[in-house]
Amino acid sequence: MKIVLGSDHAGIDLRQWLVEQLTKKGHACQEVGAPDTSSYDYPDASDELVHVLARKDADYGILICGTGIGVSIRANRYPHTRCALCTTEYMAAMAREHNDANVLALGARVLGTEQALAIVETFLSTDASQVPRHQARVRKLDAPI
Ligand code: RB5
Repeated sequence: MKIVLGSDHAGIDLRQWLVEQLTKKGHACQEVGAPDTSSYDYPDASDELVHVLARKDADYGILICGTGIGVSIRANRYPHTRCALCTTEYMAAMAREHNDANVLALGARVLGTEQALAIVETFLSTDASQVPRHQARVRKLDAPI
């Protein structure tokens, strides 16, 4: 899979570690956002990542900041971006199955690295539900307000 990972300064260590793990598993990873650990505004990472997805240069996005909250709020301002902040594998499975989320948000100051990887693996390996009621609800998520 082609995955774009973006973060601010608070998420860069987890981002780089996840890139190593996902690359070992055969995924093609692209990074956006903070270039190093100096202060970086998290909405900018979301903007960059959403544009990569809009160009169809990646299948899924992973956004990381301290809590995962700021990056997810910004990403969800964009149409056709369904960003889910997940703290458990169950949430990651449901985010894909019921919400057809295309972006996963993680909190680097909330999760341990192995916990984050387990959430990422669940997210990437779960398909969106084909059940019509779930598909109809996802269409409503993307409907104009
Ligand atoms: C940065 O200190 C922190 O505010 C940011 O990483 C994130 O947690 C915002 O939601």
